Amino acid sequence: MAHELRFQIKDKDIGARIGELEIDGKGIKTPAIMPVYNPNKPTIPIKDLKDKFGIRIVMTNSYILYKNSDLRNKVIENGIHRFLNFDGLIATDSGSYQLMRYGTVSVSNREIIEFQERIGSDIGSFLDIPTLPNAYKPRAIEQLELTLERAGGAENAKFVVNAGIQGSTFLDLRKKAAIEIGKRFRLCAIGGIVRLMEDYRFSDLVDIIVTVKKNLPTNRVVHAFGLGHPMSMGLVVALGCDIFDSAAYALYAQEFRYITEYGTKKLHDMEYLPCSCPVCNKYGVELKELPNEEKIRELARHNLYVTIEELNRIKEAIREGVLWELLSIRARSHPSLIEGINRVTRHNKFLSKLDPITKNSGFFVSGRESTQRTEVINTRVRAKRVTSKKLIMLRPFGNIPVEVLDIYPFNSFMCPELADKRKGISDIDIFRAILDYQFGSGASEIIDRISVKKSRNTGRMRWIYQGRELIASIRASDHFIIPKLPLAEKLKEKFPLPRLRVIIDKDAVPFVREGKSVFAKFVVDVDKDLRAGDEVLIVDQNDNLIRTGTLLLSPEEVKDFDYGVAVRVR
Ligand code: GUN
Ligand code: ZN
Repeated sequence: MAHELRFQIKDKDIGARIGELEIDGKGIKTPAIMPVYNPNKPTIPIKDLKDKFGIRIVMTNSYILYKNSDLRNKVIENGIHRFLNFDGLIATDSGSYQLMRYGTVSVSNREIIEFQERIGSDIGSFLDIPTLPNAYKPRAIEQLELTLERAGGAENAKFVVNAGIQGSTFLDLRKKAAIEIGKRFRLCAIGGIVRLMEDYRFSDLVDIIVTVKKNLPTNRVVHAFGLGHPMSMGLVVALGCDIFDSAAYALYAQEFRYITEYGTKKLHDMEYLPCSCPVCNKYGVELKELPNEEKIRELARHNLYVTIEELNRIKEAIREGVLWELLSIRARSHPSLIEGINRVTRHNKFLSKLDPITKNSGFFVSGRESTQRTEVINTRVRAKRVTSKKLIMLRPFGNIPVEVLDIYPFNSFMCPELADKRKGISDIDIFRAILDYQFGSGASEIIDRISVKKSRNTGRMRWIYQGRELIASIRASDHFIIPKLPLAEKLKEKFPLPRLRVIIDKDAVPFVREGKSVFAKFVVDVDKDLRAGDEVLIVDQNDNLIRTGTLLLSPEEVKDFDYGVAVRVR
């Protein structure tokens, strides 16, 4: 049975994406957490994971089931879904974790793959070898070779392969692994990183994830193996990881460790519980007094609640376009996280290509790292396009034309003093400057005889006419120009192919002409200097203008993705 994996992006911020992943008709929203379910000692029953926590995907360990002949027979007989009594997605691991912890396992790659096929895992793993950080390099090379060979053994597996990318802390090996695995699999898992998280080595983690992401096609679903702690989740999501598995909620509970989104505490040292989940609400600090087994069970629940809560907070931040602000807050919980976020800014050129050009909320300077944010990189390039009558120094962006102060992200800094600096600058000057900013130097030359109509409520520019023809409107939220067809035609004449364009296949033309969205798979080519959030020209393969619309993905993503909307058409 061939399985089908569909993945599409719904929303973006920095390198993060909110996605929809569907495997054989079962769907989940990403970023997603897979709670690890240990069939030997389930800390939270599967029914509760489903009903109380809303979990639609779990991870369990096929090696644990395989090793024990009673369990093995039972799960073979019933299949993994009936065995666990879970009808959502079930991912199984292969014993690689045990390999990492204990150095050896008593199963072959082929055996464990066949076992996972037999029990009906939706997602399965080959027996990749998690090489520890800072391993002896020849050994890391050897283990990676073996991992890649084992990957070959899973290429025709009956499950979606959760394909391990190894290479320890050697970025050249990670690059090689990402290229090889990315060619062959659609779900790629960054492995061998649990120790880095446990040791708070967030900078190394950032380098590894970015190296892998740079070398994978953008439409690959990326799993960060074992990164289930909420404190680093925002950082890892921001770099483009989509799935996590968490055993941490249960493992930490066994050591009476209380997880928070900003770090881990020893329950027995606490006098107040900074959480209102059902567990903390019910027991308060009396949680400490419960008998050990019950305490572990309840603490595991709290740990999972805060993990899910943080993931929801991250998703909402992506929607609002304030993920950087959330990272800045989290970074303040530990010096190693500050190093981690600073390391992210080293990769901001890569990330700025993925980051949307406009966002739903304002830009807040929230720490030293703000000066290096992806928006700063993107706006610097755009500001240079504008021929300005007057530049002002606006930290952290640098010299910005006063004409563009109304648009995102500069609008967050608007104040009476800045407004004063615009004396003598006309609305027409402002409109022309924003044209250049959005579409390129010289865009302002294509218009003349224009007049501006203002909103009666706000007194701000709203509609732009050329003669009597409406050629553009200005969006209230971010002051970006929304070109109508007459302006779009002129932009097309001014800028040669493929600039500002999304070129679509002829089969899609009738639908798009009607106003239907452009799906990524119908895009033939796209201007690589565009950004998600840009207003674009949708043309056919003969460069006839069909419509205008808002690009929802980065150009690289438009090219890589087979599912989902690339341009929302006006
Ligand atoms: N669990 C934690 N880390 C890993 C890893 O690198 N590979 C696999 N298969 N499982 C893991
Ligand atoms: Zn709690």
